[in-house]
Amino acid sequence: SSVLLLNGPNLNLLGKREPEIYGAQSLDQLVGELKAQASAEGVQLTHTQSNSEAELIDVIHQAMGKIDFIIFNPAAFTHTSVALRDALLGVNIPFIEIHISNVHAREDFRHKSFLSDIAQGVICGLGTDGYRYALTHAISHLSK
Ligand code: DQA
Repeated sequence: SSVLLLNGPNLNLLGKREPEIYGAQSLDQLVGELKAQASAEGVQLTHTQSNSEAELIDVIHQAMGKIDFIIFNPAAFTHTSVALRDALLGVNIPFIEIHISNVHAREDFRHKSFLSDIAQGVICGLGTDGYRYALTHAISHLSK
């Protein structure tokens, strides 16, 4: 089975960006560890990070018929994007919405998500470990 990891805007700066909120690990390190976790379980993990809403939408469209599960940190687009919501509804692939920080403990504008009610689950506030938990869930979901 195939899992798509999607990371939205500014997550390319992981490790450098507000490390007190987002941690010290770089995106490359994190993705490397997740790929190892996936391949140990016989699952293929592909990854895209994009700062462009249009590119994220295109990658979601291309996942149709190829990808069994999506782990998605939509970053700031979480709080703004009807278009990403519609893309995920359009391809009908189960997904987990993930945030490194606890968005509910931050500014009011981060409390609203356009995706949470259509996600299989939401993980937030557990740091980058949340990605590992999401992948563990995806793998167990796919083996059922
Ligand atoms: C984030 C939370 C969002 O509010 C923010 O815009 C991000 C990252 C997180 O992982 O905690 O860029 O999705």
